[in-house]
Amino acid sequence: ALPAAVTIYEVGPRDGLQNESAIVPLEVKTEFVERLVAAGLPIVEATSFVHPKWVPQLADAAELVARLPMDGAVPLPVLVPNERGLDRALESGVRHIAIFASATEAFALKNLNSTLDDQLAMFEPVVARARAAGVDVRAYVSMCFGDPWEGAVPVDQVVSVGRRLLDLGASQLSLGDTIGVGTAAHVQELVRRFEAAGTGTEWLAMHFHDTYGQALANAHAALQVGITTFDASAGGLGGCPYAESATGNLATEDLVWMLDGLGIEHGVDLSSLVETSVWMSRVLQKEPASAVVRALGA
Ligand code: HMG
Ligand code: MG
Repeated sequence: ALPAAVTIYEVGPRDGLQNESAIVPLEVKTEFVERLVAAGLPIVEATSFVHPKWVPQLADAAELVARLPMDGAVPLPVLVPNERGLDRALESGVRHIAIFASATEAFALKNLNSTLDDQLAMFEPVVARARAAGVDVRAYVSMCFGDPWEGAVPVDQVVSVGRRLLDLGASQLSLGDTIGVGTAAHVQELVRRFEAAGTGTEWLAMHFHDTYGQALANAHAALQVGITTFDASAGGLGGCPYAESATGNLATEDLVWMLDGLGIEHGVDLSSLVETSVWMSRVLQKEPASAVVRALGA
């Protein structure tokens, strides 16, 4: 049976805006997060405390966080790669962070200037210090379904990296199809292999990019094997500047439409969300990637 309710983890302000060539003004970013919260998203990833030269789009992370209710009822996590990022985040009053690991050597180098093992050494003090400060830590694993430089990625390698992140003290693993190449059976196989290794679905979230048009089908496949947390991005914004051929995330509106049809609860107001994405598409001067936004947005 499918779950009765799911949690949508909104990544538009972070995964979406990190990939826009234009730098979005601080006031627009602030309003974007506020509108997503008002639309009922239960958690909204707000920005990244990464090196500002690596992702100039999010260089204003501290200023943005200063304008947002970091102690509010809706958690507003931020990406943190290392201790320098954690220092900046803690100084700004952040209460939830997300570290981001690669399942492959090639992408650890491209995205973190690290090796597969060294990235875990980099995260270890980040997780320990965050937890000691009462800050919750989510962990992403990127390139779970394929890597643009290495090709196929063995499922065991993904499970091994994921388990190491949980062992460090992460409270949730988000399994990323960074370049959108995964398909339904592969998704179910990955979830089953985590379960076989002792990691139940309550620890897992799925993070699909829609490069090959598989994101919604993959979300449905994940629902069938008991996943209840899905990352999605308003309007289908998104992509990773350090991953060749990464395009937008699963669109939040498309996910909401499917969940509504399946009778699965999510707490999001679709019409406010569509209005927000239409507004953002005007700001960015580009057509929304989301089919639902295009269908409903006047
Ligand atoms: P590095 O160049 O190796 O850094 O970058 P370093 O440790 O050698 O430090 C060099 C200088 O940078 C030092 O300053 C540091 O203090 C400073 P100096 O002493 O020379 O004056 N520095 C920082 N400054 C501000 N904030 C920081 C920071 N760190 C160091 N956090 C680093 C290593 C990890 C920093 C870099 O590779 C980086 O920032 N990478 C982030 C890339 C990124 O954000 N990618 C997109 C997000 S991941 C994603 O989109 C995938 C996901 O959506 C899931 C999926 O789809 O699969 C999550
Ligand atoms: Mg992503």
